[in-house]
Amino acid sequence: MERSLILFKPDCVQRRLVGRILSRFEDKGLNVVAMKLMHITPDLAKQHYAEHVQKGWYPTLEQFITGGPVVAAVLEGLEVIRVVREMLGATSGLKAAPGTIRGDYSSSRQMNLVHASDGPEAAAREIALYFKKEEIVDNTPTITPWLRAGDEA
Ligand code: CDP
Ligand code: MG
Repeated sequence: MERSLILFKPDCVQRRLVGRILSRFEDKGLNVVAMKLMHITPDLAKQHYAEHVQKGWYPTLEQFITGGPVVAAVLEGLEVIRVVREMLGATSGLKAAPGTIRGDYSSSRQMNLVHASDGPEAAAREIALYFKKEEIVDNTPTITPWLRAGDEA
């Protein structure tokens, strides 16, 4: 079973879209195994976005991501990393296809509502940045046999 680190970014919290977007992940059959409301510090932002720290637009990204509370979560599911990235759509809300989360709710390249890990290594690194081991909970809903066949897992 795969895990992905999800952030409902400050724009998502401010626009009161967390519930609606979380519902899309729940409706898809993904399991929440950790979740908390928190502030991202500049130091955490630099660790999270290490690959972007040198970019010209990084300072405004840091200002944005530290500018209000976020909801951090770990989602679990089969192929969850790819599945959630596809549900989000392209980085810019202006380019993201209609029907995707960013395509439906964002008209911005920066304020694109949700972060999701882009691969297994990033997921492991990012989950460890936001959650202690004991904050991640075993959560296999009893309805699981009605979400997929037993030989799919
Ligand atoms: O989030 P994703 O992996 O789709 O995009 P990224 O290229 O890894 O960029 C990380 C985040 O930086 C984006 O989600 C945007 O919020 C922000 N960004 C920005 O502020 N300006 C850009 N020109 C590109 C990205
Ligand atoms: Mg990225």
